[in-house]
Amino acid sequence: MITISVLNRKGGTGKTTCSVNIATIFASKEFKNIKKVLVIDLDPQKNASSTLQASYRDKPSIYEVVCNDFDIKSAIINTPFENVDILQASLLLDNAEDILSLKNTKEFILKNKLEEISNLYDYVIIDCPPSKNILTINALVASDYVLIPMEAGKYAVDGIEIMNIFINEIRSKYNSNLKIAGVVLVKKERNLTQDGYASVIKTVLPLHIFNQVIRKSTIAEQSASSNEPLYYYNKKAPITQDFIKLSKEIYYITKGE
Ligand SMILES: Nc1ncnc2c1ncn2[C@@H]1O[C@H](COP(=O)(O)OP(=O)(O)O)[C@@H](O)[C@H]1O
Ligand SMILES: [Mg+2]
Repeated sequence: MITISVLNRKGGTGKTTCSVNIATIFASKEFKNIKKVLVIDLDPQKNASSTLQASYRDKPSIYEVVCNDFDIKSAIINTPFENVDILQASLLLDNAEDILSLKNTKEFILKNKLEEISNLYDYVIIDCPPSKNILTINALVASDYVLIPMEAGKYAVDGIEIMNIFINEIRSKYNSNLKIAGVVLVKKERNLTQDGYASVIKTVLPLHIFNQVIRKSTIAEQSASSNEPLYYYNKKAPITQDFIKLSKEIYYITKGE
């Protein structure tokens, strides 16, 4: 089981779009070696749960698993999308910080829970909230890789530096195994300004930048609002093809090939 946290400290940078689409494409027949994928929606805004049609008031969420010690297996929800399961989010995740502050080893709760299901999934994709809180720490402690979606813009590089410090702190305190899979440029437009930022990012960042960028496309929003990941909403769309190629790059990096 390989666990990937999708992280950016800013909101609206494509974390959920990347999480949902990479997970469904990994689990699709495009990847014959991947049988089963689990998405964990750690953001109280529940966007990944909605897009994967798994937002249920009457079922336990990742909140109950992490904060109330619920059985992780019984909180897993099957989605209508081939081989994709989810641990849904809850508005209560906003209170996790207060609840967990009293517990010992509060940073390792998710990691320990995931160990119970490590033989059930090939990949776990964690859609992180934008804040630096105990949930994001739990996600990074439980992860093998971090994937950073970012827009080619003026402030993007500064944001990455802040995250790099955070990731290094997690590495030194809790999880020396944590690696950055790379940065993916999202909502990419083909114009001089964005091409300029993209090449600056490639030269200044000491991180792997994926070759495949995700273009800006209105289809992203349409697919999210119809609660269907791109592979199911419009498989032939150029943005869907971007995600398929990006997923292949991520697969090779995370499989160490
Ligand atoms: N490649 C893209 N092209 C156009 N719009 C996009 C693209 N990726 C994401 N979006 C839109 O941008 C908004 C923020 O994306 P989202 O994935 O929800 O970000 P985050 O989870 O980081 O807050 C959403 O409305 C989403 O539909
Ligand atoms: Mg989101």
